[in-house]
Amino acid sequence: MKILLIGRSGQLGWELARALAPLGEIIAFDRAGLDLAVPGQIVSVIRSVRPDVLVNAAAYTAVDRAESEPDASFAINAAAVAILAEEAKRARALLIHYSTDYVFDGAKDTPYSEDDRPNPINAYGRSKLAGEQSISSIDGPHLILRTSWVYSARGKNFLLTIRRLLQKRDELRVVSDQIGAPTSAGALAEATAELLRRNGAGALGERSGIYHATARGSTSWHGFAMEIARLERLGLPTRIVPIASSEYPTPAQRPKNSRLSNEKLLRSFGIALPKWEACLETCHASLRAREGRESDTPNANDAREVE
Ligand SMILES: NC(=O)c1ccc[n+]([C@@H]2O[C@H](COP(=O)([O-])OP(=O)(O)OC[C@H]3O[C@@H](n4cnc5c(N)ncnc54)[C@H](OP(=O)(O)O)[C@@H]3O)[C@@H](O)[C@H]2O)c1
Repeated sequence: MKILLIGRSGQLGWELARALAPLGEIIAFDRAGLDLAVPGQIVSVIRSVRPDVLVNAAAYTAVDRAESEPDASFAINAAAVAILAEEAKRARALLIHYSTDYVFDGAKDTPYSEDDRPNPINAYGRSKLAGEQSISSIDGPHLILRTSWVYSARGKNFLLTIRRLLQKRDELRVVSDQIGAPTSAGALAEATAELLRRNGAGALGERSGIYHATARGSTSWHGFAMEIARLERLGLPTRIVPIASSEYPTPAQRPKNSRLSNEKLLRSFGIALPKWEACLETCHASLRAREGRESDTPNANDAREVE
């Protein structure tokens, strides 16, 4: 199986490069090799690689910045995705694409299913929804995996921010009225690989559609921060104070309920991601292990080599 992976240096892309490697030949691009803002590059790369599977882990993910530059987020999350979908269909390749809980407004009381009507409340969510709609209407073989609250041992994310702040502050104030499932990039990459391993690209294409794929269970950002603090086992614990979203205004509004039901993924393919606490523990342990290796390493350049 020849797999073209786009967005290899992002949180998910990095983990996918590792998880998909045993499945076949991986040809992976970061932004320097394939810029999704340049439509001609997308077309020429896909036509020259001629993949069996096209995995798109790249996206414009700056949720707050998207409010002031909606055109930039649309270019990457919608316009480029439409070209990916057209080219994947032309190549008869399975397109695996990722989307977000932010396509919903969060007004529902229970977890969202794939049949619920999206109604994004921020520019990022609107751009991701437009990307989903292009893929669905072009209708080549595709899987759209909607996920939420992604973090990993690298990149910019809540886990790394809270860890850093725990070292510096006596008190953290963290939003407690947004509920969702923190999902590690590693667990999502493993689930993606497992889908391909068990079913093959052809069978997955026959079951094209949207699937929710998050870690199991749910918590608030405050609950997530508390669990990170517990794993850090600091001697002098920082106070972590729950606050309302209204006390922490951001340019982009976020849904209060980000929970996604994963029943369709389980029913269709027998696949479920681990519980969010277990994902966090695994990711935290790998972070600790890496830091241990780096502290044994004579200098920063050597540490980068070890990576
Ligand atoms: N992060 C979350 O909390 C979250 C939640 C729900 C869904 N998702 C979805 O999950 C997927 C993976 O997200 P992630 O967290 O792994 O994101 P990420 O860490 O921000 O990675 C996104 C990657 O996209 C690349 N990219 C951005 N613009 C590009 C362009 N013009 N051409 C080529 N590459 C470009 C970035 O490259 P540079 O490194 O060069 O910037 C980066 O490597 C995305 O579809 C995202 O929408 C994420």
